[in-house]
Amino acid sequence: MQNLNTYILAIESSCDDTSCAILNKEAVLSNVTANQKIHEKYGGVVPELASRDHQKNIIPVVEAALKKANVSLQDLQAIAITRGPGLMGSLLVGLSFAKSLSLALGIPLIEVNHMQGHILAHFIKEPRDKAEGTEMKQKTDHPLFPFLCLTASGGHTQLVKITDYLSFEVLGETIDDAVGEAFDKAAKILGLPYPGGPMIDKLAKEGDKTKFTFAHTKVPGRDYSFSGIKTSFLYFVQNNVQKNENFIAENLKDICASYQQHLIQVLLKNVKQVLKETGIKHLAIAGGVSANSGLRKQVVELEDELGIKTFIPKFEYCTDNAAMIGITAYYKFLRNDFSNLGITPMARMSL
Ligand code: KG4
Ligand code: ZN
Repeated sequence: MQNLNTYILAIESSCDDTSCAILNKEAVLSNVTANQKIHEKYGGVVPELASRDHQKNIIPVVEAALKKANVSLQDLQAIAITRGPGLMGSLLVGLSFAKSLSLALGIPLIEVNHMQGHILAHFIKEPRDKAEGTEMKQKTDHPLFPFLCLTASGGHTQLVKITDYLSFEVLGETIDDAVGEAFDKAAKILGLPYPGGPMIDKLAKEGDKTKFTFAHTKVPGRDYSFSGIKTSFLYFVQNNVQKNENFIAENLKDICASYQQHLIQVLLKNVKQVLKETGIKHLAIAGGVSANSGLRKQVVELEDELGIKTFIPKFEYCTDNAAMIGITAYYKFLRNDFSNLGITPMARMSL
């Protein structure tokens, strides 16, 4: 008889969020994340402190996820874990824990590429309201293959063509920094707390996005570059503060709105070019920066402009979370694509 349930416990610990999710096939039963506040006072993630906090958080987070899902360890069919890319110490905590659990329960370990997880988060299903029991519904309708995904996070900026659940082709990517870094660095220059992306987004909502303009960096082909944009933003602020020491305070919302708009324009220029060149009709966005309200709005506007369909993830699945690791592992589970217990974390890992 066909097994009706496939329970997977997934762990994500690649950066500064410790997350555990329980999935039944494509449906998320729980997705519990402990965010690390400790990095705020340093203005960025301190790797050593991140791994120590993962060590502290991992058992409570796993226990909470199991409890919330009402699933016991004995119900599980596999353990999913982010193998990379990410911070070595952070990945080690999650991977060591996942290996021990897999060994203790005698069930397979499934390694997941974090960036594949961000993309496949679009296929996550959520339970209908409790009254309807375990019946699952689509969180939203999902993109159809082949689709294009703009993956924008604190560590990556990529344009990926997805032809099947586990078939990815990078069509363009940043040659230096990620767009998330361009948000976070600018926020730091403006004296805003870490992580800066959400703060810039919030302030930008009340600002004039046409007030300041920034130069475009020329990058050949479909690639991106954000390093020069970060530096020119620093000079822009320094020059203006020299002329008026209250420049930041007097213009904060307009600076945020204009700078955010510049980054969105840079991101969408290549997206439009690739959509035209490839004829792909479904566009998705993923990764922490896909939580940006300006980007979300302007991506949806492409539907009318280009006659395409766009897919925007739920906020919960934009930033790092274990549900996206669980859904990716589920597709690997269906292919019996299991990992050896001798695997080690990969700080760098291509798609
Ligand atoms: O995917 P993610 O949680 O972690 C990585 O894998 O890097 O992405 C984190 C990045 C940070 O740079 C953060 O500032 C950015 O996503 N971010 C945002 C927003 N929310 C998170 N950037 C712009 N607007 C937002 N609302
Ligand atoms: Zn991420």
